[in-house]
Amino acid sequence: MKTICLATNNQHKVEELQKMLEGHFEIKTLQDIGCTEDIAETADTFEGNSLIKADYVYQNYHIDCIADDSGLVVDALNGEPGVYSARYAGEHGNHDKNMDKLLLNLKDVENRTARFKTVVTMILAGETFTFEGAVEGKIIDRKTGDGGFGYDPIFMPDGYDRTFAQMSMEEKNPISHRGRAIEKLIGFLKGR
Ligand code: IMP
Repeated sequence: MKTICLATNNQHKVEELQKMLEGHFEIKTLQDIGCTEDIAETADTFEGNSLIKADYVYQNYHIDCIADDSGLVVDALNGEPGVYSARYAGEHGNHDKNMDKLLLNLKDVENRTARFKTVVTMILAGETFTFEGAVEGKIIDRKTGDGGFGYDPIFMPDGYDRTFAQMSMEEKNPISHRGRAIEKLIGFLKGR
């Protein structure tokens, strides 16, 4: 089986992606390949940041890799927090503060529609491929559920009356933005 590096330090993502890619690749993490640098996400699009991460790993560690960049896009906030999802409240990865800021900005706002978006970049033997995924839903007005990560406790996907944080990984993965992008990636691999 081919080995591929997942260019993320987010343990939740590693677990999600590992499950989805089971049987297709043997997975290595950034830690496994000795990459401890903080890869600066300086682009202003998901696609740009996803490419920066994949390219960094490929150029410096010469290993096939998959990187993803994702975030939450809220209609009433003109697409915020978007590429700034991880550091919306200032401090990188403080999920509670990020959700508090979002809920405050949406206080008394009627339109709660939002979507998670992801762009996955895969580099195989120097060739670059991108796959996109999205999941539509709405922002509820209080944190509900204790699973998942990020904005999961306040995001309710369309067609469900539970948040992502109230779903198991088995339930979230097939309908999530990342799940949908990875499904396209797997479809692509099968067709090769
Ligand atoms: P990343 O750049 O793909 O690591 O994602 C940036 C940020 O978007 C994360 O730190 C989370 O705040 C948010 N995010 C991305 N995917 C998810 C998800 O599946 N659930 C909840 N939040 C997410």
